[in-house]
Amino acid sequence: MKQQIVKLLKSAGGDFVSGQLISEKLNVSRAAIWKYMNALKEEGYEIESVSRKGYRLIESADVLTSSEVEKYLTTTSIGRNLVYFKTIGSTNDEAKRIAFNTVNGTVVVSEEQTNGRGRLGRVWSSPIGKGIWMSVVLKPDIIPEKVSRITLIGAAAVCKALQEMGVEPQIKWPNDLLLSKKKLCGILTEMSAELNHVNYIVMGIGINVNIELEEYPEELREVATSLKIATGEEFNRQELMARILNNLEKLYTEFVEKDDMSESIRVCKENSLLIGEKVFLIERGGKREVKVIDIDEAGELIVINENGEMETIISGEVSVRGF
Ligand code: BTN
Repeated sequence: MKQQIVKLLKSAGGDFVSGQLISEKLNVSRAAIWKYMNALKEEGYEIESVSRKGYRLIESADVLTSSEVEKYLTTTSIGRNLVYFKTIGSTNDEAKRIAFNTVNGTVVVSEEQTNGRGRLGRVWSSPIGKGIWMSVVLKPDIIPEKVSRITLIGAAAVCKALQEMGVEPQIKWPNDLLLSKKKLCGILTEMSAELNHVNYIVMGIGINVNIELEEYPEELREVATSLKIATGEEFNRQELMARILNNLEKLYTEFVEKDDMSESIRVCKENSLLIGEKVFLIERGGKREVKVIDIDEAGELIVINENGEMETIISGEVSVRGF
């Protein structure tokens, strides 16, 4: 209902809308409207109310609701069903909970996560209103072996969206984006699959947007960054979120419909942090140093191992020497 009220106020283009009209159009009592207006004000919307004139929207809130993100969205499926929370444990957990019963492209987004999760059981700090913490439910008709490619497609989509907004990040294959060698974005892809069939994929994307340096705990300041910290400017989260989804839909559709991930690979290669670097591959049995030489057309990392042989790495964790 709150979203419908916002839509109605916006369609008035800054003019007053009478309580009577809202109540007739949306079939709610005047008292209920008053309550919803107060709730919207709490969310950050600036709404003027004048007796006998009604309500007027002065300024929209910096929130990631569908009525705010929609205006930047050009997709047909991804993000069209947007499940919004002000606070939640983890959007990935919620996305997994609803995945079987929701449509492909559903996005779960929250202003804050109280139990944000990173890879390998790490904690993902997700302060309120300062980032984009979202999970996309995808239901591709592909074999489970190909799922790791979806993460690269996600990384490429985030990279392209950031470039459109004037930022040049580097991609740390396969799941991270960095700015000035510090982490800006992490992707956590989870799936439910049978031997030859993927039930669903949940791609969780976390981007540090308007977090200030002081807001990071001391131990994160050396390794994490945000768009605000790196550029000194506030970024429009709604636009960035929509641009990511717009790019994601394009790259994802090319992949599932034409088996073509050439554009995603191009982006990952051109903006790669790892190509040409010596890195540690973190594996179950420990870690070993290799030199990265390329990313192939399947999105796999091509490295030269400790014996001088060429190896293909399908998925995994990489740590870069020195940071
Ligand atoms: C990593 O770099 O380790 C991955 C971080 C992924 C964070 C995102 S934020 C939205 C989604 N919900 C979660 O709990 N995690 C992912």
